[in-house]
Amino acid sequence: MLFQSLAASLTYGSAALAAQLTQVSNYNNNAKAKPGMWVYVPDTVKVDALVVAIHSCQSSAQKYFANDKIPWHKGSDGKGYVTVWPSSTTECWDVSSKASLTHDGGGDSNAIANMIKYAITQYKIDPAKVFVTGGSSGAMMSNVLAATYPELITAVSLYSGVPAGCFVSSSGQAAAWNNTCSGGQSTATAQKWGDVVRNMYPGYNGTRPRMQIWHGSVDGTLAPANYQETIKQWTNVFGVPVTPTSSKPDTPDKNYRMDDFGPNVEGIWAVGVGHSVPSHLTASEAWFGL
Ligand SMILES: *[C@@H]1O[C@H](CO)[C@@H](O)[C@H](O)[C@H]1NC(C)=O
Ligand SMILES: *[C@@H]1O[C@H](CO)[C@@H](O)[C@H](O)[C@H]1NC(C)=O
Repeated sequence: MLFQSLAASLTYGSAALAAQLTQVSNYNNNAKAKPGMWVYVPDTVKVDALVVAIHSCQSSAQKYFANDKIPWHKGSDGKGYVTVWPSSTTECWDVSSKASLTHDGGGDSNAIANMIKYAITQYKIDPAKVFVTGGSSGAMMSNVLAATYPELITAVSLYSGVPAGCFVSSSGQAAAWNNTCSGGQSTATAQKWGDVVRNMYPGYNGTRPRMQIWHGSVDGTLAPANYQETIKQWTNVFGVPVTPTSSKPDTPDKNYRMDDFGPNVEGIWAVGVGHSVPSHLTASEAWFGL
């Protein structure tokens, strides 16, 4: 009898302790945009690092977390870091309105920055270990966050996005689709793309997040040209040539090519891969130094 109830309470106890994705209802968000914040704190936290995993269109924090192909839940359990999962209130992230394309502009990027600030305090994260990743719309938002909140983010690993500001809406619409950009017709000089980033946080002169950019060579949703445009953008921001210092074939996967542009920008061109390039946990964690 005693043993039975003890066993029952032990089972109950461990189930109650098992980590799960949890919503944070109040993350001190003063932005007008109100995306949801979800957090996963692994059972054993081994490192004071944070990874923000940003979902694609028609998804949510819960769907993205539950998706087997999205490896950040596994990464969190394995390496013992906290993950934050923003959840949009629109079909795709707002990467088109002035509000979201401006530091403290009140849009989705502002709200996600507030999630990061909340997480740093609440989960005792080292501000020098804040990492951002995402796929498709989440990759676009990763670029936008890197541009609007460079002071908060250490490194980014994004899969199949477009340059920051490429999805801008001429009418100022929030979360608008932009066919010119998605079709690969939004091309500009490196200087112009760099200016787009600098203008999102005028006067900022601190460090910028290190950028790892993945794109598939046969992407039918966000045209492959967006790879080169994104590389132009960040190499200009870091003031390095747009020609890689080295290109390694079959790295970090067969038929992928790793283009290096010094310590702060890395491109991974996935030959024969469409939309979206699958997350490569080991290579992204390595970029983060995790
Ligand atoms: C789409 O984005 C481009 C920049 O990439 C911009 O010039 C254009 O005005 C945008 N289109 C619309 C319809 O807003
Ligand atoms: C730029 O640098 C100056 C001097 O170091 C500093 O006072 C200023 O706040 C910085 N601007 C921003 C936007 O960080």
